[in-house]
Amino acid sequence: MLDQVAAALEPRALAPRCLVVDDDAPVRSAIAKVTQLLGLAPLEAADGAAALRLLAEQGEVPLVISDVNMPGISGMELLEEITRRYPDTAVLMLSGVADVKIAVACLDKGALDYIAKPALLEEVRARVAKALEKRDLLLQRRFYQRNLELRVRVQANRIKELFLQGVQTLAQALEAKDAYTSGHSIRVSRYAVQTAVRLGFTGEKLEEIRLGGELHDIGKIGTREAVLNKPGPLTDEEFLHITEHTMLGEKILAPLARENPTVLRIVRNHHERMDGRGFPDRLAGGDIPFEARIVCVVDAFDAMTTNRAYRASRTPQAAMEELERCVGTHFDPDVVRAFLAAFPDPGQLPLTV
Ligand SMILES: [Fe+2]
Repeated sequence: MLDQVAAALEPRALAPRCLVVDDDAPVRSAIAKVTQLLGLAPLEAADGAAALRLLAEQGEVPLVISDVNMPGISGMELLEEITRRYPDTAVLMLSGVADVKIAVACLDKGALDYIAKPALLEEVRARVAKALEKRDLLLQRRFYQRNLELRVRVQANRIKELFLQGVQTLAQALEAKDAYTSGHSIRVSRYAVQTAVRLGFTGEKLEEIRLGGELHDIGKIGTREAVLNKPGPLTDEEFLHITEHTMLGEKILAPLARENPTVLRIVRNHHERMDGRGFPDRLAGGDIPFEARIVCVVDAFDAMTTNRAYRASRTPQAAMEELERCVGTHFDPDVVRAFLAAFPDPGQLPLTV
């Protein structure tokens, strides 16, 4: 006996469920029977509130067939609630002749179709089959769309990766052009990251600082070698020419503008000074992007502690004292403090790369 019951229940349990909502019990059970004949496992609810309760308890179903005109929550309101909570559920509206206008309005709100009452078996069968097919197509379309978005994202990342590889090659080419700055960009990047960590930066922003540090001087690819390697003081024209590397760098990295604007700000503004006497925008104090103030400090430290065409290097200790001396005029005090805290032992500097 139990086996027979189990056998009778099994196909029902495996069949796709549907929910029939109607306050008219004979109509509701007639429609439920039709859906059963179509291979569905019907649930029944006498009104909108009961329907929502049932869905909340038992989870979403592929198909809901709901009367338009019910006491309490109307068919239209139930439809809106179902499309909001369960967007993958197909909804068919049941309507008497008098409610056809409302049923049509329901199509605008996301119902897939409506069945006119009194409903004939064949009509219900055809409408249910069509609604389920339509739902499948909608789900497939949504899947393809999501998949496409994912593929576009993967490709966009790949393009960015290739761009960055190209730019990093350019940075290496730049260091080959200026023998004195060998390893400069990598060291600046490392100093900047450790200082930024002290200042509380994490995640994506920290990554932008790492990249900004590595690429901060990329625009020097356009600076004349004679100026870059000039042993003596620069003329006004030569100085102006040097300042242009900030803006050229920003131009070169323009493809990163949308996703990594901080990198561009670092590249453009790493030579600004707190007193507003830097370049290229003569920004002062808090107007200078904070990330650019970080790279400014560590860039100056690395420049001071490595030999340049125009002067020999200072000791790390002397360079740190110089940073402290120029706090407020040239450098941000918080950044200098964080840098000194991140590298408490000058004997370990400069970093080897
Ligand atoms: Fe620079």
